Amino acid sequence: MDTVGVVGAGQMGAGIAQVSAQAGYRVLLSDMNLARAEAGKAGIAKQLDRAVTKEKITAEARDAALALIEPVESVAAMGPAFLVIEAATEREEIKRAIFAEVGKVLSQHAVLASNTSSIPITRLAQAAPDAGRFVGVHFFNPVPVMGLIELIRGLATSDATVATVEAYAGRLGKQVVRANDAPGFIVNRVLMPMLNEACFALGEGVATIRDIDLACQLGLNHPMGPLTLADFIGLDTCLEITRVLFEGTGDPKFRPAPVLVKYVEAGWFGRKTGRGFYDYSGPEPVPTR
Ligand code: CAA
Repeated sequence: MDTVGVVGAGQMGAGIAQVSAQAGYRVLLSDMNLARAEAGKAGIAKQLDRAVTKEKITAEARDAALALIEPVESVAAMGPAFLVIEAATEREEIKRAIFAEVGKVLSQHAVLASNTSSIPITRLAQAAPDAGRFVGVHFFNPVPVMGLIELIRGLATSDATVATVEAYAGRLGKQVVRANDAPGFIVNRVLMPMLNEACFALGEGVATIRDIDLACQLGLNHPMGPLTLADFIGLDTCLEITRVLFEGTGDPKFRPAPVLVKYVEAGWFGRKTGRGFYDYSGPEPVPTR
């Protein structure tokens, strides 16, 4: 059976494991320890239960997908995988350490992919067991809903590696776009300046949080306003990616907005910390200014 390894059972890793299992792949799911991997699977079970309640999938399809997901103790178990996708914390040293461990067990023709949203693929490939079999596969949050995968080729990525990932993405029903290994790839290159600009507008007193979001949501027909989306992604992540754009291009147009920096310094990262531009402690998010 086709086996995919997913390293990292957080929001992105769990989403990738879920859609892979729903596409019929056997999934080996790891995290820092077995308990975290199992917690990731429990979260997937909840998501699938909701989908059954909404009659989007049958109870049989839920059970079949869950049966395909095996939480494992560590990446040492990933030898059978033809594709290992790393979706760990967005810190280069953590990813490099994972690649070294995966390198000990990755089978001869298997591909190692990173779901990094901002670290250059060619640089990450330095730590991969084989740069030819290393590639960026960038999923979007929430993974089960978003139809896109950005495929980022490092300088040494082989054609066979690209073909493997395209076939996998096709089976998931996701559209693939190919991006060069440039800062932010495509989506974040375009999105982050918009979110950052919304932070500048807020800081300069152009409008309130509510009005900036409502204006973009209704005026541009976006599903979420930019400040809501920034909270959803995580303000720490938005700042990190904006800094990658700024440092990677040297272009001052990408400089982070002071408001964004301040919120991150305050530890107000958005939904995941209960407060960002909105306060999430009540039943509905409330703008904080
Ligand atoms: N997992 C699975 N399904 C989910 C979900 C989740 N976490 N969140 C929402 N959904 C599903 C719901 O079940 C619902 O499905 P149905 O319509 O079939 O019932 C559908 O999505 C819509 O959800 P809701 O009605 O609850 O809420 P909504 O209409 O406000 O949609 C949203 C929620 C899909 C998140 C929508 O607001 C949206 O698309 N927002 C923008 C998301 C976005 O831009 N993501 C990209 C971020 S950038 C990124 O990820 C890359 C990076 O590197 C930073």
